Amino acid sequence: MVGSLNMDLVARAPRLPKPGETLAGHAFAQVPGGKGGNQAVAAARLGAQVAMLGCIGDDPNGATLRQGLEAESIDCTALGTSASPTGVALIIVDDGSQNAIVIVAGSNADVTPATIAGNETLLATADVIVCQLETPPDTVRAALAAGRRLGKTTILNPAPAANALPDDWFALVDYLIPNELEAATLSGIEIATPDDARRAAVALRQKGARNVIVTLGSQGVFALLGDGAGEHIGAPTVQAVDTTAAGDTFIGGFAAELARGRPVPAAIAFGQRAAAVAVTREGAQPSIPHRSEIAE
Ligand code: RIB
Repeated sequence: MVGSLNMDLVARAPRLPKPGETLAGHAFAQVPGGKGGNQAVAAARLGAQVAMLGCIGDDPNGATLRQGLEAESIDCTALGTSASPTGVALIIVDDGSQNAIVIVAGSNADVTPATIAGNETLLATADVIVCQLETPPDTVRAALAAGRRLGKTTILNPAPAANALPDDWFALVDYLIPNELEAATLSGIEIATPDDARRAAVALRQKGARNVIVTLGSQGVFALLGDGAGEHIGAPTVQAVDTTAAGDTFIGGFAAELARGRPVPAAIAFGQRAAAVAVTREGAQPSIPHRSEIAE
């Protein structure tokens, strides 16, 4: 796993505030998060051996995040420490279970291409290399390129997606897994329906990604695999309380199943079942289920 580690500062509120508004919340929690950390924890709890390549600060948040990963038996030998403060995420979750997130990268900005080059021996031991966009773009590209060179399966969760990706990234990606907002940013196609997701996925495949899986929240996923026509796969119906890290849980579960050699459709279904559990619980890493909780 190449990615970010954040301490999440989470306020629950009746709704998301408007610009300039002060809103009374009704709960606060501080929990381990970060898309990289969440996906690493998900993959580990769901059955994979995981190594974390990232960077924390030399501060209490960093120590807590490291302890959390080590408690999941995640290999932290490539987890660096920098002079920057550990990354944080300010999260508001509304009573409808939706969230809004602001991240401040801090030490996540100190994961560099040199970090990737210096850990190529570790990357060579992986079956699957997973990246997101909460570490610097040059670093993510270096990790994907190393994965391609080493013959690994590469997964890119392009989150958060502020802009279109450079064209030369797509051929480095085996599985591109955006949510609907990210798929819209990358493809220029607004997504309101699964058919919109199909059109966006086709556009992203044309750019060079081998497979595209657009996550659609409670609507499931649209999976465009290989040269196929694609398929909309609905999600299990659950009562969601907090969708934070649902996508991360899907990706971690999906990656863990790929690493076990499971067929892609089965890996997608497994990831969906895991994410469906995660949304019934609060917080990022605290919400992620263990393999024993997921029907095989
Ligand atoms: O995907 C959820 C995560 O996004 C949160 O844990 C937060 O840290 C941000 O990175």
